[in-house]
Amino acid sequence: MEYVNLSNGVKMPMEGFGVFQVRDKAECKRSVLDAIKAGYRLIDTAASYTNEDAVGEAVREAIDQGLCKREDLFITSKMWVQDMASFDMAKAAIDASLEKTGLEYLDLYLLHQAMKDYFSAWRAMEAAYREGKLRAIGVSNFYPNVLTNFCETVEIRPMVNQVELHPYFTQEKALETMAYYNVVPEAWAPLGGGRYDPFNEGTLIEIAKAHGKTVSQVMLRWNVQRGVVVIPKSTHLERIEENFNIWDFTLTDEEMAQVSSLDRGYEGTAVKHFDPDFVRMCTGRKIHD
Ligand SMILES: NC(=O)c1ccc[n+]([C@@H]2O[C@H](COP(=O)([O-])OP(=O)(O)OC[C@H]3O[C@@H](n4cnc5c(N)ncnc54)[C@H](OP(=O)(O)O)[C@@H]3O)[C@@H](O)[C@H]2O)c1
Repeated sequence: MEYVNLSNGVKMPMEGFGVFQVRDKAECKRSVLDAIKAGYRLIDTAASYTNEDAVGEAVREAIDQGLCKREDLFITSKMWVQDMASFDMAKAAIDASLEKTGLEYLDLYLLHQAMKDYFSAWRAMEAAYREGKLRAIGVSNFYPNVLTNFCETVEIRPMVNQVELHPYFTQEKALETMAYYNVVPEAWAPLGGGRYDPFNEGTLIEIAKAHGKTVSQVMLRWNVQRGVVVIPKSTHLERIEENFNIWDFTLTDEEMAQVSSLDRGYEGTAVKHFDPDFVRMCTGRKIHD
């Protein structure tokens, strides 16, 4: 596996394990343990996934079993929109994530969306970062115009921006903006998130065959080869292992271009962040009282 250096010098694994929609706590804990056994060191959760506690339990069990040390792991969580209404609420949300995971610090904490009072929320993130509660801070779903304004305004620039990035939504412009501000791109839904039917895509099947690999491995490899951190999710052991087995082959420039040519532009987004209904859904969604 490879690592990328964040702007503050913290090392981040280029591949991690996502637990979105793994609502059953036992299943989440078991999947995270399977992932750590398979070699993953980055785990991606969020307050809104309501499984931060199960991730924390898996981390403690992995350490107890001698599978890894805490400092080998890179645990990410995210602040939900509900808590981004003020500095004080954001501060409390960071403490709540620490308490739920049972960890003394988180390796990365993200603002989940560019919604509500995200500048005040960011100031709480900066304060927690300076206190050592968070080793790195970042954002998620910040489109290039929003990210640019944010980076031109805040005191500490985000170290990571987690956005939707897969062959059907390649977001080249977003990657350029992130590179300009030294923000590491991280792909959510790197396998398409169960949409688009990539496993029957002729281009991907041909490239996979040429390398003796699977479509999933080609999709993940394509992103890491263009400098993007990937966090595939699966609750199946064989897929968890398959998805991690991407470090022994290289796509040619032509293959990289072929994968990128599947891009559908904004038609390829799963989440319509520009849709007022989506914003109202997020700002109104409560994950706790
Ligand atoms: N910041 C955000 O707004 C945001 C949004 C979405 C996701 N995320 C993060 O990104 C992570 C990944 O995104 P995602 O979970 O939406 O989608 P994903 O990882 O692209 O795809 C997951 C889907 O692909 C299936 N799958 C996994 N490996 C496979 C394989 N080798 N072959 C065939 N199918 C496979 C999974 O099924 P099984 O589980 O049944 O194997 C699941 O249905 C999330 O878990 C979360 O941590 C963040």
